[in-house]
Amino acid sequence: MATIYIDNLPHQVKDGQNLLQACLGLGLNLPYFCWHPAMHSVGACRQCAVKVFRDEKDTRGQIVMSCMTPVKDGMRLSVDDTQASDFRRRIIELLMVGHPHDCPVCDEGGECHLQDMTVMTGHDYRRYRFNKRTFVNQDMGPFVNHEMNRCIQCYRCVRYYCDYAGGRDFGVQGWHNTVYFGRFAAGVLESEFSGNLVEICPTGVFTDKTQREHYTRKLDLSNAPSICANCSVGCNTIPGERYGKIRRVHNRYHGQVNRYFLCDRGRYGYEFTNAPTRPTQVRFSARGAGVMGASSTTGVQPVASADNLPGTAVPGLSETAIAYVRNWAKSASMVGIGSPRASLESNFALRQLVGKDRFFSGLEASEQPLVERIVQVFHDGPVASASLWEVDHADAVLVLGEDLTNTAPMVALAVRQASMRGPMARVLKDLKVERWNDAAIRQAIQEQRGPIFIATPQATKLDEIAQATHRAAPADIARFAAAVTHEIDSAAPAVELDSPAADLARTVAQALLHAQQPMVIAGTSLRSPELIDAAAALTAALVNKARPARLHFVVSQCNTMGAAMLGGKETSGAIDMLKSGQADTLVVLENDLYRLMPAADADALLSAARQVVVLDCIDTPTLGRADVVLPAASVFESDGTFVNNEGRAQRFYQVFRPGGHIRESWRWLAAGCSPTPEGTAADHRCKIASDAKNASDAKNIITLDTITAAMIAEFPALAAVADIAPPADFRMHSQRLPRQHHRYSGRTAMTANVSVDEPQAPCDCDSSLAFSMEGYRGGEAAPSALITRYWSPGWNSVQALTRFQQEIGGPLRGGDPGRRLLEPPTTGATAKPSFGAAVPVTDNPATPGKLLILPAWHIYGSEPLSMGTPGVAQQAPHPYIALSATDAAGLRLSDGAQATLQFEAQSPSPQAMTLTVRVYTELPAGVAMVPAGLPGMPYLSLPDRGRVAACMGGPA
Ligand code: SF4
Ligand code: SF4
Ligand code: FES
Repeated sequence: MATIYIDNLPHQVKDGQNLLQACLGLGLNLPYFCWHPAMHSVGACRQCAVKVFRDEKDTRGQIVMSCMTPVKDGMRLSVDDTQASDFRRRIIELLMVGHPHDCPVCDEGGECHLQDMTVMTGHDYRRYRFNKRTFVNQDMGPFVNHEMNRCIQCYRCVRYYCDYAGGRDFGVQGWHNTVYFGRFAAGVLESEFSGNLVEICPTGVFTDKTQREHYTRKLDLSNAPSICANCSVGCNTIPGERYGKIRRVHNRYHGQVNRYFLCDRGRYGYEFTNAPTRPTQVRFSARGAGVMGASSTTGVQPVASADNLPGTAVPGLSETAIAYVRNWAKSASMVGIGSPRASLESNFALRQLVGKDRFFSGLEASEQPLVERIVQVFHDGPVASASLWEVDHADAVLVLGEDLTNTAPMVALAVRQASMRGPMARVLKDLKVERWNDAAIRQAIQEQRGPIFIATPQATKLDEIAQATHRAAPADIARFAAAVTHEIDSAAPAVELDSPAADLARTVAQALLHAQQPMVIAGTSLRSPELIDAAAALTAALVNKARPARLHFVVSQCNTMGAAMLGGKETSGAIDMLKSGQADTLVVLENDLYRLMPAADADALLSAARQVVVLDCIDTPTLGRADVVLPAASVFESDGTFVNNEGRAQRFYQVFRPGGHIRESWRWLAAGCSPTPEGTAADHRCKIASDAKNASDAKNIITLDTITAAMIAEFPALAAVADIAPPADFRMHSQRLPRQHHRYSGRTAMTANVSVDEPQAPCDCDSSLAFSMEGYRGGEAAPSALITRYWSPGWNSVQALTRFQQEIGGPLRGGDPGRRLLEPPTTGATAKPSFGAAVPVTDNPATPGKLLILPAWHIYGSEPLSMGTPGVAQQAPHPYIALSATDAAGLRLSDGAQATLQFEAQSPSPQAMTLTVRVYTELPAGVAMVPAGLPGMPYLSLPDRGRVAACMGGPA
């Protein structure tokens, strides 16, 4: 620690910072633009000037840029000095000469860093009376809007897009007073992280195009803390709602997970919740109506409802709808299929409703054993799961099988940062440069990269930062990993590899052994159990050699780990149960059977049930086959818990009370367990309701807390879920925490189309957040899990985040939210690893034309929720088959040709598919890839062997 004197007052600050960090950390108002906590200092904008004095006697001082000046013990500086303040005011005036002053029509208005800094410096009068420079804006695709006239040349965008995120299609062009920040030619931004420009840019040059489509002022958004549901990483988000629609998704800082950024799938993949096609009413088909005893018997009918206006629904369920659910639950003999995209609570409520022997996980059959194995690996130790921040800080990384940009985009962004760690450590040591001095570090590092190794079947976008790549089929990648393990620990079985692969295995082993923070990343995307075991054995070998190795597994969906921890059976078992008459009703929770199994199997499952009840928030083929549809709340309309790929349980909150019959799935399902008007049945189905009755009041309201308590009682391994957020009765000084900004406008007009009386805000019995602008606004920090926005007096933009952190770039005040559920045992964790005797057998694809078909995943297209956003759907590829150059030549197929793919072993075998050929030059011979989860692609149980042939009559 160092003592510095700011305007003659002593302050204790951490060494190794610059003065700007120190001042912001102390809560002082010091304006800046080009410094960013993730990208550090370059000293470009000259906005952060302070005066530094030699000693107590120095009264003249010297103006310096605080972001470029290191903290030194005993240092004296002034933020309030008149010359320094005047310098800052004049810099803003200079920047504003080129700025169009168009705040009233700017999408950034109200949350603008430039507005805040202009007010902070006291610049309030425009003296410049001449024409301003103007630029031509670019169409940058569906996500980011471009308005270059607002630029203040801080260079943050280009530093983020190119230096931090590795973008190549964007840069700074021009000279003198006409520098231009944009693409080299108009067109869709290529980076999967382009949306962060919206939060990076301190003005309105880059704004959110999806919000523009249904614009609302930022101060009029209702916000709640949420978790991205679009992949397994579990990035923290703040969605904003107005008039019953989600208008945007912003980043929510989490020191161990996503920190300052989101990927574009997470930021923009929210429109599914606004889709006009989504189910909003309880519906039942003619068959469902008969079974349920409803009056209508023709077609699919909605149940009449009065509570279908956003924000006006009273707590509790529509009595009409709930009567159906109770009748159905009372009479039916059910099996339930859970979901990796539904919350822990919803899955648990389904399990309680149907009984544990009739609960099926809803995980894809080939993924379930892999995820169970991952849970076991972290449970048994000795290797601990790595957080995203730990991946970011690794100095040697081996990626096994995962195309991270497409399967877990933010992990790819973290690996990009990891590639700088090794060279950066050398620069910090040799040149004695501080970490914050980014300009100097990048100058010294140039193109140097650390030891990043990527072993995948196909070329990936991350290859450009890799020291070496290895192309092989999954089992051969596992063999390669086993060879690395043998190099690290000769007790592990030896593997015979050809010479380049064997040499590379030695190089990788040395890099991992000599790293300060070695990291191995693998996952389930190739559906290879050998890869999971090989990654676990490799890291165990490192730990056994006293290396602090970590393991990061990627799984498919936002709650895949949570679904596995609830222990459901494999989904295919439901067919036998229905066919054998052990059950007559199938309940499908937020899942599409046609993505889980071959269409023929899904048809058989749905046909075997006397009635099919589906709860979902998106329209799916399974929903189309439902006898009863219960409209489920989306992640934005629910409270619940997801467990991310790291094993971290994280809470998300309802942003707004949805209209129609939409309810959280757990609320529907728990209502099915609820005591009937005639009395409480004493079977397992009533467990949740009984707990609720004891824990709440005579009204028998079922809340998230009661569901969570019941879940923890049944699953002690989930006990930490109780600690991830305050309970619903938590209050700050007897007050709730508001979802709405205190400057929220138009409250009394919100429902004027219905009634001019202002309705009472709905009561939230599941959390301590209020659906209004009323609540605690004092100076005490709210619990980090309940932060609804970053705001502080004078700081309306996201830069206010510094006021919520314990230190700049550190954890949030009170600790980052969420708890890890999977930690290795503290005793016996260093036990010698057992490598097993078996080395994976090579995939050895021998027969020409009979190829090993692997799934390929796409950031845009493979994930069903985000496909509800038109800009995501627009960027999804069309179905294709990727062939190696050798196989394509052997089959006389070229890029763009049509080929047929026929499986031999798939049961039931799908029709031969006609697909467009892509030739991947780096794909190993004998291996082909087809996209998974795309619309237009049937479910395929992969990997499998298939025959590819030129399409008869098609172009070769
Ligand atoms: S576009 Fe925005 S981030 Fe880029 S230099 Fe201009 S003001 Fe800075
Ligand atoms: S990496 Fe995954 S969790 Fe994070 S924002 Fe992207 S899609 Fe969402
Ligand atoms: S923030 Fe210091 S020069 Fe820009």
